[in-house]
Amino acid sequence: MRVRPRRNRKNELIRKMVEETVLRPANLIYPLFLLEGDLEKQAIDSLPGIFRMNLNDLFLEVEASVAVGICSFVLFPAVPEKYKDKTASYSVNAANFYLEAIRQLKQKFPQIILMSDVAMDPYSSDGHDGYVENGEILNDRTLPILGDMALAQAQAGIDIIGPSDMMDGRVGFIRDVLDSKGFLNTSIMSYTAKYASAFYGPFRQALYSAPKAGDKKTYQMNPANKTEALIEADLDTAEGADFLMVKPALCYMDVIHALKQHSNLPIAAYNVSGEYAMLMAACEKGWLDYNLAMPEMLLSLKRAGADVILTYFAKDFAQLYHQK
Ligand code: PBG
Repeated sequence: MRVRPRRNRKNELIRKMVEETVLRPANLIYPLFLLEGDLEKQAIDSLPGIFRMNLNDLFLEVEASVAVGICSFVLFPAVPEKYKDKTASYSVNAANFYLEAIRQLKQKFPQIILMSDVAMDPYSSDGHDGYVENGEILNDRTLPILGDMALAQAQAGIDIIGPSDMMDGRVGFIRDVLDSKGFLNTSIMSYTAKYASAFYGPFRQALYSAPKAGDKKTYQMNPANKTEALIEADLDTAEGADFLMVKPALCYMDVIHALKQHSNLPIAAYNVSGEYAMLMAACEKGWLDYNLAMPEMLLSLKRAGADVILTYFAKDFAQLYHQK
């Protein structure tokens, strides 16, 4: 045998020398769940280690994250039922605790990157990402609502707008609204290929945001489709997206790969709540080793083509990264 691939694996230094993929804390975005007022920190059953937090607790979590090199966050509000209505009007309410949190976070931590969620579901009495009429999700009726929501977030100081709603044309619509108001440098990370997935369950539990009726299949993508993701990618690119996202991540690594091949934009992958829950459950049972399985999972997403990963593991990954 002249060819022995094992020679390039013979010790740690050589393995590092030929290592093809490197994942750093700077590639990660850490999702945070915000509570109104001064409510105490709440554990989420299906997301062990993740909490709904009031703004003060959130400050501590951001501080601890920044200390290990996690400086990018995506913020989600747990909106009390009493604020929800047909048009998600609370999303632009002057007293909105989410917008206030954005202002305060950016003031306290000017160096962080803060990303928002744009979709009606956390604020909608129907629990859908778009406007519902007679059981139908109306695309074009939803766009101005999303535009106003994005503008309010930009005005509060958000760095990256994250439209997660899957309405047609929303990236361009939001881009136009932002530009017309002078927010030329507010980025858009589009949830480009967001699938109608069972893996969002724990997230909807965390935000009490599950649809009151029906499912999200008329706007989120069919898990059977990959080529269709390229249509979405072309549209979002033409409409001015700065990043294209695939969501969920683990069951959709072929889609991540396809988008990376297809596009010159940075590709993001959302390692969603159900994927976190799955690994945590196996680790709690002692069936998997957390410190080995977790970084392997995230590295694999990078190898598949994700430049950026949104993950509930962000802080733990960074802690491990510095120990090595
Ligand atoms: C809402 C939204 C969802 C997630 C992010 N934004 C849920 C959904 O579409 O029902 C899921 C994130 C996760 O599961 O971690 N538009």
